[in-house]
Amino acid sequence: MNILLLGGGGREHAIAWKLKQSPLCEHLFILPGNAGTPQCGVNLPFSVTDFESIKKVCLELDMDMVIPGPEDPLVKGIADFFRNDPELKHIPVIGPGKSGAQLEGSKAFAKQFMMRHHIPTAGYREFTKDNFEEGKNYLQQHELPVVLKADGLAAGKGVVICQSHEEAVREFEQMIKDRKFGEAGTKVVVEQFLEGIELSVFVLTDGKHYLLLPEAKDYKKIGEGDTGPNTGGMGAVSPVPFADKMFMQKVKEQIIEPTVLGIQKDELDYIGFIFFGLISVQGEPYVIEYNCRLGDPETEAIMPRIKNDLVELLNATAHGSLDTQELDTDSRCSGTIILVSGGYPGAYQKGKLIRGIKKQVPDASFIFHAGTSENDRKIFTDGGRVIAITSLAGDLKNALKMSAQMAEEIQFDGKYFRKDIGFEFL
Ligand code: AMP
Ligand code: GLY
Repeated sequence: MNILLLGGGGREHAIAWKLKQSPLCEHLFILPGNAGTPQCGVNLPFSVTDFESIKKVCLELDMDMVIPGPEDPLVKGIADFFRNDPELKHIPVIGPGKSGAQLEGSKAFAKQFMMRHHIPTAGYREFTKDNFEEGKNYLQQHELPVVLKADGLAAGKGVVICQSHEEAVREFEQMIKDRKFGEAGTKVVVEQFLEGIELSVFVLTDGKHYLLLPEAKDYKKIGEGDTGPNTGGMGAVSPVPFADKMFMQKVKEQIIEPTVLGIQKDELDYIGFIFFGLISVQGEPYVIEYNCRLGDPETEAIMPRIKNDLVELLNATAHGSLDTQELDTDSRCSGTIILVSGGYPGAYQKGKLIRGIKKQVPDASFIFHAGTSENDRKIFTDGGRVIAITSLAGDLKNALKMSAQMAEEIQFDGKYFRKDIGFEFL
């Protein structure tokens, strides 16, 4: 098969690495890819939301499958674009149409979906400029902290946890009146704060059946001990020690199954990955958010633990036969550490030479590129998150130790990484 993977982060390098191992994958193309993905296939220099260019390459290169990595093309309707085009509709896109991608694209839509299908989540109300005054009053009475969420995609910045009523009202005004997040914030979800520990659960669904993938926990804060501003993710571990059999049984019964059934009842166009951002509140799972794609950096941690042929799983997803598949998981633990550019998640410089990426790494370690570019056979930094290092070992401590050793060996100006990934489990 000829396969097109959309995206250019660490997640996509990990997916490309996994796809390339399949005997079913003849030619792999990554659009746009990064300096690591040419180890697995051919990079194509287009944007993931340039649907016309994507169409052109799919026809010219006789593509058999398209796999969107990030949410942007899905929320903008790439699956509908393929399904409705007579020249493209024979090419499966492994992702939801616009209707299904709303689960990520609109927080209010996701909340209404969860209410309708009795899926545990924080209590909430939604407000726009039309009930702005009511919203202000509501916020002033709300218990603290209170969570404000811009309805639409806001590059991961649309959630604000407010510790005082003054802050909440100010934030609310900035979102609705001053359009702090543009169009994404014209509707605001006000939500109860849940106290607990978070984890990421992933399934593949063909719309009827689902296959549970390994779970992971990511570390969003820049600073050690989970301090400082949020980032795109500084590391991840899999499996998650507290996600034991009993907890995962609750997740299946109370969250995954009602979600897959709800998608069918509501006739949402949905195949592909569902990412459940969950929080365990005293052992009870609640949904914080849905995403219509895999997580980054969770993917870098979970891909090496999946022993199945990924192309086979995705074919079954496209053909409605996921019930014939069973997941084969590597029982080892996975620890991922992200190397980032100095200054990230604030302003940072790009174009720093990267040294010390070994060609030969230990058997159980993997280097996935994220924000990198190549020039004249040299590799340079090209983003905030630069490289993901994953190792597998019999226990989490050793996996993270191996990744940390490799993190020390790779050098670039301003390199930073967290040395405490997985701290609460060690
Ligand atoms: P989201 O963009 O929805 O993933 O939210 C970003 C982060 O905000 C989450 O990963 C949580 O850490 C936090 N968060 C969101 N909603 C809540 C909530 N209701 N209670 C506590 N924390 C939350
Ligand atoms: N790691 C969280 C995300 O991908 O959204």
